[in-house]
Amino acid sequence: MQGTVTSVAKTRVGERFEELVSKHPIWQNPLLVACARNELSLKDYGYFIAQHFYYSRGFTRLLSALMMQCEDDKFRAELSHNLWEEAGEENMEERHSNLLRKMMNDVFGIAEPDSTDFKTYTVSYFDECLRFLKNTNSIGAAAFLGWGTEGVVANIYEYWYEGLLNLGVAPEALRYLSIHMECDDDHAAVIENIALSQCGGDIAAHAGEIETAIYKALDLRNEYFKAIYQDITTAKIEPLVTAICGKLPYLNTDDVSVFTSSLAKSSGVKLYSNQQQNEGISFEVSRFNIGCEVMDPRLLEIPEGCRNECHKHAHESLFYVVSGQGRVHIGDEHIDVKVGQLVYVPRWIDHFSENTGSGTLSILAITDFGLTKHFPNNTDFSYRKKQHTQVA
Ligand SMILES: [Fe+2]
Ligand SMILES: [Fe+2]
Repeated sequence: MQGTVTSVAKTRVGERFEELVSKHPIWQNPLLVACARNELSLKDYGYFIAQHFYYSRGFTRLLSALMMQCEDDKFRAELSHNLWEEAGEENMEERHSNLLRKMMNDVFGIAEPDSTDFKTYTVSYFDECLRFLKNTNSIGAAAFLGWGTEGVVANIYEYWYEGLLNLGVAPEALRYLSIHMECDDDHAAVIENIALSQCGGDIAAHAGEIETAIYKALDLRNEYFKAIYQDITTAKIEPLVTAICGKLPYLNTDDVSVFTSSLAKSSGVKLYSNQQQNEGISFEVSRFNIGCEVMDPRLLEIPEGCRNECHKHAHESLFYVVSGQGRVHIGDEHIDVKVGQLVYVPRWIDHFSENTGSGTLSILAITDFGLTKHFPNNTDFSYRKKQHTQVA
C-alpha cells in the first residue's frame, strides 16, 4: 500500500511518464471506444473478459518476474504486499483470479472460465509480457509493470465497469473490476517508485529505457485489444460464413409459403417513420419478413412534395421504384427516377430521396442489413435522426 513505498517524490518526477501514457494510441483502441459508446452486448463482454481471464490468472507470474529482477530485498518486500493483495490476503478464495472466476459465473454464466478456448493472440500477449519482464533489467521491468500496466488498469476497467452497468449488471457482481479500480493505482505507485528509486537521482539518464518499457507494455496491450475487437466483430458473422461454406440452407424449403409477400405496405412490418413537415420530411418504412438471411427488403413511401431525411449506414441498398416519380440524392449526385428504375446506394454515403411527382413515391429498397446488423453501431435506428417515430 501507499505507506510502504520508498519515499521518492513520485508525483513530481513520475509525472512526465504519466503524460507519456496519456498520449499513447491505446486510448483510441476500438475495443475501448466500443465500450464507451455502449456498442457491445453482454455476450461481447463475456467473450473478451473470458479471454482476459488468461492474463488475470497469470498476473502474479508477471509480478513475480519483476520481483525476481529486483536485487534490493526492500523492493521485493514492497512487491510482496502487492502479491499479498493479489492473493486475497488471509482468504485465498478471495484471490483476484478467483474474483474474476466468480464474476464470469455470476455475470456471464461461464462456470468454467479455466476451460475457455484461449485464442493464440491471448496466450501470445501474456507470453510477450512475461518474456519482456524476464529479459530486461529491474528499471525496465518496473516501468513496464508500473506505468505501462498497473497504472492503466483502473482506467481500462472503468470502461468495462461502466459499460456493464449500462447493460443492467448490478455493481455488486462487478467486484473484480471495482476492486482493481480502487487498488491498482496504489499497486502502480509501489512499482513506479521501485523504478525511480533505482535511477540513483538521475531520472533523465534512465528516461529512455523507462519510456521504451512503458510503450512496450502499452503497445502489446493495444494490439491485444485490437485482436479481441476484430474477433468480436467477425465472430458474429462466423455462423453465416460457416453456413455458406458448408452449403447449408438458411431455411427449410418446407417454409416456402412464407417466402412471398405482396409489396403492399399493409403486408410489411412497420419499421419507422418520420414527420418533420417544416423541413418537408415525411416518410414511412416497412420491412418484409420473407425469410431472407442477408437481404432485407423494405418499402419506403414518401408522400407528394416530401422527402426522407439525409442519412447513411453500413448496409448497401438497391432501390427499385414501384410507383411515382422522384429524385434520389447520393452524395453530390442527383438522379431522377421513375417507375421501373433501379438505383444503387453504396454503403456509408449520405443519401435521401424526394418525391417530385404526383401521388406517393414508393421505393422497394433491398439492403444487406442481414449482414451489416452484426457490426457495431449499425442498428436500424443508430444512424437516424432523433425525431423519428420508432414503430417496431
Ligand atoms: Fe489483481
Ligand atoms: Fe438509407
